[in-house]
Amino acid sequence: MAGVRKLFIKTYGCQMNVYDSERMAEAMSGAGYVETDSPEEADMIVLNTCHIREKASEKVYSELGRFRDLKAQRPDLKIGVAGCVAQAEGAEIMRRQPLVDLVVGPQSYHRLPELEARTRKGARALDTDFPVDDKFDALRGRPRARRGPTAFLTVQEGCDKFCAFCVVPYTRGAEVSRPAARVLEEARDLVARGVREITLLGQNVNAYHGAGPDGAGWSLARLIRALSEIDDLARIRFTTSHPRDMSDDLIAAHGECDKLMPYLHLPVQSGSDRILKRMNRGHSAEDYIRLIGRIRAARPDILISGDFIVGFPEETEADFQATLDLIAEVGYGYAFSFKYSPRPGTPAAERDQLDEQIKSERLHRLQALITTQQRAAQDAMVGRHVGVLFEKPGRLAGQMVGKSDYLHAVHVADCTAAPGELRRIEIIESGPNSLAGRLVAD
Ligand code: 5AD
Ligand code: SF4
Repeated sequence: MAGVRKLFIKTYGCQMNVYDSERMAEAMSGAGYVETDSPEEADMIVLNTCHIREKASEKVYSELGRFRDLKAQRPDLKIGVAGCVAQAEGAEIMRRQPLVDLVVGPQSYHRLPELEARTRKGARALDTDFPVDDKFDALRGRPRARRGPTAFLTVQEGCDKFCAFCVVPYTRGAEVSRPAARVLEEARDLVARGVREITLLGQNVNAYHGAGPDGAGWSLARLIRALSEIDDLARIRFTTSHPRDMSDDLIAAHGECDKLMPYLHLPVQSGSDRILKRMNRGHSAEDYIRLIGRIRAARPDILISGDFIVGFPEETEADFQATLDLIAEVGYGYAFSFKYSPRPGTPAAERDQLDEQIKSERLHRLQALITTQQRAAQDAMVGRHVGVLFEKPGRLAGQMVGKSDYLHAVHVADCTAAPGELRRIEIIESGPNSLAGRLVAD
């Protein structure tokens, strides 16, 4: 009798990987595993990897190398690689790193217990198929009892857009939406376990078109409106969206649906039409700016966040300046920016590349502008009354921390609110990384 085994999962990359790691842990609970946060005491270690930017696979190999001693001490220890690097380079990982017992791609996580059982018999297991069965259904393992107040819920996966820089269509496959009834059921279950805020996830979440109970395709807006009917669910967010799928009904939902938070992550990547075209984005800078205008007309206080890539092949100083101009015009609450990194197998990787130094210098300039905007957006919160969903005690005695409607971290001293409570807060101070506030009457 093996008794309880321990599973350590290390998660890299996006929120979808965070969600997937939770599902893998639940699936493995059916095979007698409990999670641990220490690799030293684990019977199985899984690295849930990301392939989006450079050195992803090198990072995986160096991380794997660190488990060599552990495996030497305990030959029974099983080591797995999951996620997008597994999908892209699974066979290569098996070949290069004999420490690895199993490789599993994102579409095959429901087969993890079966793969693990094979490794227990001394075999190595690799599964990077795109099976037709619904992995989400099969992944509904033993639900864990109570949960924290916030949760991710994957509603859509994969992408058909084929931006010239991006590996996602290759690692996550074609766009697939989960049926609305399944999403609603999972949401109700989360809420019953204490969740008050759900972030709907998808690589292209606003392209959601899951089958509705009536057989018709539901849009993301329709799904959000249905989720709003769940009484104890207080907040809904979604990420990440493509400008081309920002439909009229989703824009309207931002104005009409109280539970939908005033925050939208809407990446544009570049402000230059020439580069947008070469990126295969399917929209111009002007299209994007007009779209932001329509969203703000529906929800004037909405905070916009974005992603930017600098140093894409053929980007000139003028192209880069157009990106800075777009940022200045839009005014972002948050932004994430990256140096372009050629991903094997993607069209842009085959093109002439810019010098690393130019990329670094542009990234630096872009980040300086973004930092100023983020600061301004955060400082502008002072004096306002906002909702804060409290998550946990802060570092100081009596202090509680949570997130505002706009996703800013807020801490409140001498706070009577419990984790999971949503309260009105007056923001009184803007610090380096968070806001300070005090409770006001609801
Ligand atoms: N190089 C740099 N950044 C990239 N992103 C995606 N692919 C690449 C790449 N090859 C960025 C985009 C995307 C975010 C998730 O990662 O900005 O929106
Ligand atoms: Fe990384 Fe994209 Fe995979 Fe998420 S989906 S883990 S961002 S490569």
